[in-house]
Amino acid sequence: MDIASRPSEPAENTAVANAAPPPAAPAVIRREDYTPPAWLVPEVSLDFALGVDGTRVVSDLLVRRNAPGQPLRLSGDGIAAREVLVDGRPSNHWRMEGADLVIDLEGDEHRVSIETALNPAANSQLMGLYASNGMLCTQCEAEGFRRITFHPDRPDVLSVYRVRMAGPKADFPILLSNGNCVASGEGPPNENGEDTHWAEWHDPWPKPSYLFALVAGDLVATSDSFTTMNGRKVDLNIWVRPGDESRTHHAMRSLINSMKWDEEAFGREYDLDLFNIVAVSDFNMGAMENKGLNVFNTRYVLADPETATDGDYDAVEGVIGHEYFHNWSGNRITCRDWFQLSLKEGFTVLRDQMFSAAMGSEPVKRIEDVRVLRAAQFPEDSGPLAHPIRPDSYQEISNFYTATVYNKGAEVIRMMRSMANFGAGADRFRKGTDLYFDRHDGEAATCEDFVKAIEDGAGLDLTRFRLWYSQAGTPRVTARLAHEGDVATLHLTQEVPLTPGQASKQPMPIPLRLALFDRASGKHGGEQLVVLDQAEASFTFPGHAEAPVLSLNRGFSAPVAIDAATSQEDLVFLAAHDDDPFARYEALQSLIVRHLVAAAAEELSDDERFTGRHAIASAIAAVLDDTALDDLMRGELLILPGEGYLAEQFAQADPTAIRREREGLKGWLAQALLARFTALHDRASAVPFSLEAAARGARKVKTQALVYLAAGAPEEAARRAAAQYDAADNMTDRQGALMTLCGLDTPGRAEKLADFHARYAGNALVIDKWFSLQAGSLHGDALAHVKALADHPDFTLGNPNRVRSLYMAFAANPAAFHDPSGEGYRIIADLILALDPINAQTAARFVPSLGRWRRIEPARAAMMRAELERIAAAPSLSRDTFEQVTRSLG
Ligand code: PHE
Ligand code: ZN
Repeated sequence: MDIASRPSEPAENTAVANAAPPPAAPAVIRREDYTPPAWLVPEVSLDFALGVDGTRVVSDLLVRRNAPGQPLRLSGDGIAAREVLVDGRPSNHWRMEGADLVIDLEGDEHRVSIETALNPAANSQLMGLYASNGMLCTQCEAEGFRRITFHPDRPDVLSVYRVRMAGPKADFPILLSNGNCVASGEGPPNENGEDTHWAEWHDPWPKPSYLFALVAGDLVATSDSFTTMNGRKVDLNIWVRPGDESRTHHAMRSLINSMKWDEEAFGREYDLDLFNIVAVSDFNMGAMENKGLNVFNTRYVLADPETATDGDYDAVEGVIGHEYFHNWSGNRITCRDWFQLSLKEGFTVLRDQMFSAAMGSEPVKRIEDVRVLRAAQFPEDSGPLAHPIRPDSYQEISNFYTATVYNKGAEVIRMMRSMANFGAGADRFRKGTDLYFDRHDGEAATCEDFVKAIEDGAGLDLTRFRLWYSQAGTPRVTARLAHEGDVATLHLTQEVPLTPGQASKQPMPIPLRLALFDRASGKHGGEQLVVLDQAEASFTFPGHAEAPVLSLNRGFSAPVAIDAATSQEDLVFLAAHDDDPFARYEALQSLIVRHLVAAAAEELSDDERFTGRHAIASAIAAVLDDTALDDLMRGELLILPGEGYLAEQFAQADPTAIRREREGLKGWLAQALLARFTALHDRASAVPFSLEAAARGARKVKTQALVYLAAGAPEEAARRAAAQYDAADNMTDRQGALMTLCGLDTPGRAEKLADFHARYAGNALVIDKWFSLQAGSLHGDALAHVKALADHPDFTLGNPNRVRSLYMAFAANPAAFHDPSGEGYRIIADLILALDPINAQTAARFVPSLGRWRRIEPARAAMMRAELERIAAAPSLSRDTFEQVTRSLG
């Protein structure tokens, strides 16, 4: 044995690193400690000898000194070096320091070669190189590359990659990596006598290791091409398992639309001759933007009318766009360090939102995006895990792929866009993004670089606006409108709530679009933009003989919570007259939120309950009767505020009371407007299937009608749902009907559930729906159903989609999860403990549901806390779960 080889440690790339108990609390990584890399790696050459349960990797690095006196430090995670060569010779100047491989090097440039061995089949964490249904694939963001080979695995080390892979032809007929395939051929038979082949890939664009990808398996492609604005013909392939080809057409259409839209909206052209997408069924997240080789969770690729809902179609379009847009916002310009994650994610979410709006209905998309923000990000911002869109510290970066970094990050950039473009008559924001892409192309940049480019390019002063990057918490704005003579005066105040680790806050610039409506004419004299950049400020508006009606934060121009103390009468006025579709939606929502919050707090007299319900009923009736509304928007307006958002309105919420009042109102409305809801269901049911907006709208209101009827006329709903289920020629109708039946006590429930399961046996994505519908249902026994489903033969902890389909749906079903017995909390805690050693990233994502304990009434809060403590006391926890649990208890 030569001197460079060390006895190799167990080489499976399994749970080792993540599941081993941290000797002490994991180290805290701080943004302020950033230092540039000591060594750069201009070139990487990787050689893979592929096997599902044994893959050998040789990594050749060209390393160049970037700081004097420092050794070369290469990160590893659960791997061992079998051999280390420096400049072609075995080296004995290396050592392991914890998980890092450290090499002392004289001089400024060397070639370092390291061999590692992996067991992809044993890699249940789905980070690094893993096997999924016999296919091999990689996931490297954020720190998965170090599970493949030793590397300066940080986003500011950019390299040109050359990848060679070889393996048995029968197992891996298709061999893919980033960039272009530059050579391929037959190899000699392997030790098992199997025919082998190989391929070599070259990616000319320097990239960080987190964008590396490799896929090998039995895949078939749907192919097309796109010619870019400068005439580059790009071959497009969407790779799936044989049999799934027929469900790739929507994804392909979405990809082509994305490529075209990014040219038009942002001037961004694709930069390779090939773009590959691969769908895998075992994936921790939605999808990954690896350069030229995007890897997708199957649920964001596969869609046909029989198995995917309209919502699924939209999600595919949005995620295909998102990953494609990363080619510029993420890949050509990447992040200096992981604290800058929102640089690529916030911007890319904004870009995918704009794309989806352009492909469909802009106002409906805006409402959907705000609903997601309020359901997912507002609770994060008001809980123990609150963090700024540019965090200051972390233990495990995987825990920071959050609604805050993504969705609030997008809102922050959207505000810059509004401020740049409002009344400008030109796209000044685009001047800012052009400058950003120009100035930082090829670099690993910071959020500060982005803000500066927008500032310079768009001509804005964003000095104070930068606080949106450093301060966590959803600002609360109060608005009071006074009227005297012919002047209306708007008095605004703001407060940024305290969040963990941020004991004092400064006022932030909050851009608010507003209009003042004349009561008599129902019109306003033009929209205005005010920027509230102090703790309080007043704005005067002359020319109002009568007190106007205030429409504030139109289009949700700022991601804040507003207390405008608008009268019920004015909310009804705005719900009927506001010409900003979002503001109209918002007025109706406020009317309902206010009523339900008071009702759940038992603050309503019988009289107030009566008048409140009648005000809501007439507003809903107006929505049902308004022939000027399209059904997609009508469907949006009919959705009652979610239980989670309602719970947010309380210092300590009682989920039972919220469920009772929300369902009570829905049932009352169904009875009060019974003829309208049945007529709506009849009308919508007569519209034949198509993917056009009108037909999609009809399907949306069809299910909304059932949702109301189920609460107020359950027998009618059960009959209609069963008929809708049987008649369905698409998944939207079938799922809507089954969802309705799932919440009811009717024989049709078990019957249709059994039919659905049998009908879609073998289609994992649809069986996921079968689990979700039951776990998320309004049925009083949902908790018992979840317990039974955990023992169903189709359930497994091994597939993240399946785990989420049962348990995320359950954790998001407040009445079931918050069962007064505390059993729901125990179920989620047991899940976290069981899943943590298998897939730490996915396990940690369940912690926030328990982490909300401070905002729940005391009896339940104590039980939630106790479950967190039980998890914290477990003998070994991943870094992921450890961090989330300790922050939630802290
Ligand atoms: N970067 C991916 C995206 O948002 C998300 C992701 C993160 C995927 C980490 C996998 C792992 O597009
Ligand atoms: Zn992204």
